[in-house]
Amino acid sequence: MANPLRPALLAAARSPRIARTLTGLRTTKKVVDRFVAGDCEDQLVAAADTLLASGRHLTIDYLGEDITDIAQAKDTAAHYRTVLSALGESGATSESVRPLEVSLKLSALGQSLPRDGDAIALEHAHQVCEAAAAVGAWVTIDAEDHTTTDSTLGIVRELRGEFPWLGTVLQAYLRRTEADCRDLAGPGSRIRLCKGAYQEPATVAYREREAVDQSYLRCLRVLMEGRGYPMVASHDPAIIESALRMVATTERKNDEFEFQMLYGIRDAEQRRLAAAGYHLRVYVAYGSQWYGYFMRRLAERPANLTFFLRAMAER
Ligand code: FDA
Repeated sequence: MANPLRPALLAAARSPRIARTLTGLRTTKKVVDRFVAGDCEDQLVAAADTLLASGRHLTIDYLGEDITDIAQAKDTAAHYRTVLSALGESGATSESVRPLEVSLKLSALGQSLPRDGDAIALEHAHQVCEAAAAVGAWVTIDAEDHTTTDSTLGIVRELRGEFPWLGTVLQAYLRRTEADCRDLAGPGSRIRLCKGAYQEPATVAYREREAVDQSYLRCLRVLMEGRGYPMVASHDPAIIESALRMVATTERKNDEFEFQMLYGIRDAEQRRLAAAGYHLRVYVAYGSQWYGYFMRRLAERPANLTFFLRAMAER
C-alpha cells in the first residue's frame, strides 16, 4: 500500500503502552477531533443533528474494541441502547432506507473474551438489534481483523434469522471476500464494502494498493449484480465513479444502494453526493476510546500523519 508507515502505525494501534502515552496529550485530542464527533452523548447528538439537517444519513460507532472483561461488553451494549432510544426519537425511521443506524464491533461486545466470547457477543448484539428495531433503526456489524471473520459472519447469520435487515461489513483486501460477496448478495442482504483497515498477512490479504482496488471493483460488481443492498464505503473518487457506472448498467434505483464515508473525511464530496440525490451515510465515531480508530485513520493517509506531527511540533 502507498503509505510506507502504515505497518508501523497499525502495529502502534494495538500497543497499550503507546495508547497510554498518546491519549494523555492535549494536542493529540485536537487532531482526534477532526475524526471523532466527541466524547459524550451531547456532542454526538449535536453532530448527528447537523448531518441529518444536511440531508445525510448516519451510522454511529460508540468507540471501543478488544475489551477484556464482560462488564465492559455489558456497558457498551447498554450505551448503544440508550443512544438508540435518544436518537430514535428524532423520527423519520420508517422509510425504506433508514436514516439512523448503529455500527457494532463484536470485539467490543465480548467476542474477544477467552471464554464463550462468541455467545457473549451474540447476546449483546441481539440486545442492540432489539433496541434498534424498536425505534426503526438499522444495525451493521463492523469487520475487524481476519481472525474474527468466520466468527463474525456466523453471528451475523444467526441474528439475521430474527433481524433480516442486519448489515455486515466485508473488506475487499481479504482474498476470501469475493466469495463472501457471492454468498451474501441475496435478497434483503445489506453489505458495506470497504477496502480494509487492519494489518494483514499476504497469505490472507492483497497488500498492494492496485490489487486491493481491483478486488474492490470485482466484489462491488458481485454485490451490484446481486439482489441485496450494496453500501459503497469508500472516499476514493475512482471507486465512486465506478460504482455509479455499475448502478447505471445494473439499473439500480437510488433507494437500492448507498454511499458511505467516515466523519471528517471529504465533507464536500459527502454533501455533493447527498445534494445529487444519492443516499450518503456518514460513519460517526464518538466516545473516549478513540485510540485504535484514530491510529487507523493516520495509517490510511500520510497527510494525516504530517498534520498530526505538525500539531505536536506547535505545542
Ligand atoms: P483510499 O484509502 O484509497 O482513499 C481515497 C481518498 O480518500 C484519499 O486519497 C483521501 O482523499 C481520502 N481519504 C481516505 N482515507 C482518509 C483519511 N483517513 N483521512 C483523510 N482522507 C482520507 N475498515 C475495516 O477494516 N473494517 C470496517 O468495519 C470498516 N468500516 C468502514 C465504514 C465506512 C463507512 C468507511 C467509509 C470505511 C470503513 N473502513 C473499515 C475503513 C476502510 O477499510 C478504509 O481503510 C478507508 O475507508 C480508506 O479507504 P478508501 O476506500 O476511502 O480509499
